[in-house]
Amino acid sequence: MKQITVGESAYLSSPHLFAAIVTKGSKINVMGVSWFTLVSMRDAKLLFCISSRGYTGGVINETKKASLCMVTEEIKDAVMDCCRVSGANTDKVDSIALKIQEIEGFGTPVLEGAGVCWDLELSESVAAGDHTVFIMDIKNAVQLNDAPHVMAFEGYKRLDTI
Ligand SMILES: Cc1cc2nc3c(=O)[nH]c(=O)nc-3n(C[C@H](O)[C@H](O)[C@H](O)COP(=O)(O)O)c2cc1C
Repeated sequence: MKQITVGESAYLSSPHLFAAIVTKGSKINVMGVSWFTLVSMRDAKLLFCISSRGYTGGVINETKKASLCMVTEEIKDAVMDCCRVSGANTDKVDSIALKIQEIEGFGTPVLEGAGVCWDLELSESVAAGDHTVFIMDIKNAVQLNDAPHVMAFEGYKRLDTI
């Protein structure tokens, strides 16, 4: 047994889940997220934890909506690029090779080439250290394609299927 830091524990406990949060405020924005989980089936809810320094949390506070998309091989490089810049100063959809798809019955667009996608509305949020926990009502779910989704390996460095 050895003592490790929380940062090392995050690295050593990978692979982690990985998905893309899409928001639509004054523009459509995409960010990658590993800290998310389903929390309730009835009423259906999931949560994700978003840094207070990023752009996405502010948009969700304002619009109360988002979609969450599982990421496939086809779009993993583009979604990783969305993790390297903030929507605060970049139009990621313009600058990154990602195509947006509208789904009937969804309040927010999804990513073309994604796997399972959820349509979400804000239920409540809780401040937690340098992140905010957003608990979201699941309004709708679809499977766009059945390609396997990627996970985050080596901490949060590399995306791959298992
Ligand atoms: C594999 C991976 C997982 C990530 N998971 C999270 C996460 O769970 N929460 C978070 O706030 N940021 C996470 N990030 C970082 C954001 O994707 C990144 O800060 C992004 O630029 C934020 O975009 P925004 O400012 O447009 O919201 C992750 C990055 C990577 C590469």
